[in-house]
Amino acid sequence: MPRPYVRSLALAAAAALIQLMAPAPATADSVVIGGSPVDISQSPWTVALSSRDRFGGTRAGQFCGGVVVDRSTVLTAAHCLSAAVLGAPPGRVRDLKVIADRTDLTSSQGKEIPVTSTWVNPQYNSYTNTGDFGVLTLATPLPAGSVIPMAPAGDPAYTPGTPATVYGWGDVTGNATYTSSLRAAGLQVLTDATCEKAYPGGLDGRYVASSMLCAGAPEGGHDACQGDSGGPLVANGRLIGVVSWGSGCGQPGRPGVYTRVSEAVKVLGGGH
Ligand code: ARG
Repeated sequence: MPRPYVRSLALAAAAALIQLMAPAPATADSVVIGGSPVDISQSPWTVALSSRDRFGGTRAGQFCGGVVVDRSTVLTAAHCLSAAVLGAPPGRVRDLKVIADRTDLTSSQGKEIPVTSTWVNPQYNSYTNTGDFGVLTLATPLPAGSVIPMAPAGDPAYTPGTPATVYGWGDVTGNATYTSSLRAAGLQVLTDATCEKAYPGGLDGRYVASSMLCAGAPEGGHDACQGDSGGPLVANGRLIGVVSWGSGCGQPGRPGVYTRVSEAVKVLGGGH
């Protein structure tokens, strides 16, 4: 009877994931946090990363988000590809897939695309969370309409106060309530000073403006949460952030921290 074993493995993996990703206990009472349901057709660049072997089949093995930045290239968070999350180096996770064009993970809508190779930013530092991005190469390309452009350095979309939207299948309460249907939350780009003040270093981590982007709702209540990592933060139709970390979810004074996509553009090139 492999089932209990598989289940406990999946639970252990989920527990490891939650511990890894929640530096502080999360409490928030609204839903992503403070969001609402969206259809995948509204954000066809949003994909789910999946391994049923590791995370179980209930939600199609979803464990992180990703974003289509080229027809065969998915950008995600480097920490999503760590052995701590996957239980093995990403190249050894044989059922690692990208799920595209699917709103509800419990449906069979869209496509499940095998990953042919993975690349983790060599500058990624798992202790400081700087450089938190990596790339998956797809076995078959997605339509050009699924690709979102990455905002290069200097793009006005990075200006504090710009409205931005985060997408994901992650925790909607801060208490490990994972949604099966895609959600989006409306945020705004916050100043670096806001996150430098919130995260000066220590237990909650340190915000490094050159590599990270601060976004949230000034009064809290709207945020990404566990399971949203690797997914997109979009402003003015361009990708500006990748969900990376935060303290709890949706708490006032504890904004979300995103990988600054202009840093990925520098490494990957604007062609992606
Ligand atoms: N590290 C989390 C993940 O892997 C994302 C946390 C984002 N938290 C936040 N409050 N914005 O899913």
